[in-house]
Amino acid sequence: MTETELVAAARAAREFAVAPYSHFRVGAALRSRAGTIFSGCNVENASYGLTVCAERVALLKALSEGEREFTMIAVAADTAAPTPPCGPCRQLLWEYCGDIPVVLANLTTITARHQMRDLLPWPFDARLLK
Ligand code: THU
Repeated sequence: MTETELVAAARAAREFAVAPYSHFRVGAALRSRAGTIFSGCNVENASYGLTVCAERVALLKALSEGEREFTMIAVAADTAAPTPPCGPCRQLLWEYCGDIPVVLANLTTITARHQMRDLLPWPFDARLLK
């Protein structure tokens, strides 16, 4: 499973976005160490605040199926500028995926590549609960 294939999976997941309020459709694809892809789309709700981002849908799908090790995530949106994960998604991705590469893409090209440690510097995490 290459980066290109992961981006393609994120674009495909975006097609399922449930975004009747923002009309901002996002897809994500998370690759496990074993090579399995878990994809997700954003799912909105009339209360707005209960919206779940594509990244968290992909992550929660993977965790709920027993997957615990991840190697990369791709996020796709129809924007010229990169669409990076929001704050809550960064917190969860850091906790469960660690310092993985984050590939951002639109419908035609890769727009940015980051590492999780750069997206969430000085994190609060389990190490501080000791
Ligand atoms: N959204 C995502 O799914 N992922 C991101 O990285 C940024 C934002 C969604 C949440 C909401 O449904 C819509 O995009 C607009 O914020």
